[in-house]
Amino acid sequence: MLYSEKVLDHFTNPRNVGEIADADGVGEVGNAKCGDIMRMYLKIDGNVITDVKFKTFGCGAAIATSSMATELIKGATIDDALKLSNKAVVEALDGLPTSKIHCSVLAEQAIKSALSDYYTRQGIDPEPIVGPIGECEACH
Ligand code: FES
Repeated sequence: MLYSEKVLDHFTNPRNVGEIADADGVGEVGNAKCGDIMRMYLKIDGNVITDVKFKTFGCGAAIATSSMATELIKGATIDDALKLSNKAVVEALDGLPTSKIHCSVLAEQAIKSALSDYYTRQGIDPEPIVGPIGECEACH
């Protein structure tokens, strides 16, 4: 079986899909190579991510990893969300085929991009906290 049951579950029944109209931070990342785009919306109260929604115009692996990533950061602190790596998301899904690992990078980048937007809205320079949001190495 190419995909784990968890990947198939999150692909066919993705959690936290949608938009948050009054989001505190919105991030959008795209991949020029495959054309996939991911948008992440965060509601933040104090230091905690109280709600998260996403929209992914992309492949099944991108949808599954976004879905799992939103589950992992909902209720988490900003610090923990910033530490969430694409590797941890892939592990939580019981793995991905090697050729689809790059898809999981989009979710990590989208979270960082949304947190960067949050800090910018707060009047804080996000770069020292979030760091630069690089492109997916596997895709270039
Ligand atoms: Fe582009 Fe999966 S093929 S994110």
